[in-house]
Amino acid sequence: MAALIRTAKDFRDACAEVRRDGRLALVPTMGFLHAGHQSLIRAANSQAPSVAVTIFVNPTQFGPNEDLARYPRDLEGDLKKCAEAGASFVFAPEDPKEIYPEGFQTYVEPGPLAGPLCGSRRPGHFRGVATVVAKLFALSRADVAFFGEKDFQQLAVIKRLAVDLDLGTQVIGRPTIREHDGLAMSSRNAYLSPEDRQRAVALSKAMAACRSAFADGEREIARLEALAASVLTESGLRVDYAELRRPGDLERPPEATGDTRVFLAAFLGKTRLIDNGPLEG
Ligand code: PAJ
Repeated sequence: MAALIRTAKDFRDACAEVRRDGRLALVPTMGFLHAGHQSLIRAANSQAPSVAVTIFVNPTQFGPNEDLARYPRDLEGDLKKCAEAGASFVFAPEDPKEIYPEGFQTYVEPGPLAGPLCGSRRPGHFRGVATVVAKLFALSRADVAFFGEKDFQQLAVIKRLAVDLDLGTQVIGRPTIREHDGLAMSSRNAYLSPEDRQRAVALSKAMAACRSAFADGEREIARLEALAASVLTESGLRVDYAELRRPGDLERPPEATGDTRVFLAAFLGKTRLIDNGPLEG
């Protein structure tokens, strides 16, 4: 079992100690770990002798009507999965006050990358993400940190954050790990009923439909977006957004190119799932 650290002070001390011997890699998570998280821990392991995983369901990134209270948790299972993937230690704050002490009032406000997509549908979400990640970088002073492309906009915001605030941690993105039917792994998949779990494959089907239309010559953004939305709706999902954006600045391009990404968010009942991928490659 990877060693468990419960306070911010102990986490800071443990990180400082291992950094004396070599590089430290960080993998921030909200727990209820799956093979996607484990792929980040394994990638971290291949780049640094010490890997710190953090498990913290960060209240500041949840909206008032979101799933903070029911977010799935399984610390014991998570510790096993961390050890299996080669984590050196795990920081799981025993109380949110370890991260947000009495009187906390300073937040990190990301820029235009946090504007569209999840930024406009979840006001304040990326401010909460940027704030907690800045704090985890400051506590750990990790040389490198790993994040998934599953949350592509989050990855873009965090890359920018690390550069803009000179945090000294290199941010590396890793590909999305999927279930056998193509559904992107997510802790929130645990909310799905067996019927909704079947329907959820529509997200990767919608992306596949866009890819094949693009391969057949379709270049019009609006038509590709309408196609993705129709695949989701036909499977009984409620579309939150189905948009095509450039990977660099997350703006909408004049017409689709191979690196244009499809960004999807859809509800199955109360569960909101997201996915994204490029039109080509
Ligand atoms: P969480 O949703 O637990 O995800 C932790 C990390 O795992 C993120 O970098 C996410 O992109 C990555 N991840 C999730 N599903 C993945 C998959 N199927 N394949 C590959 N990587 C995947 O994202 C968060 O937590 C939080 O917002 C956090 C960054 C920890 C800040 O609170």
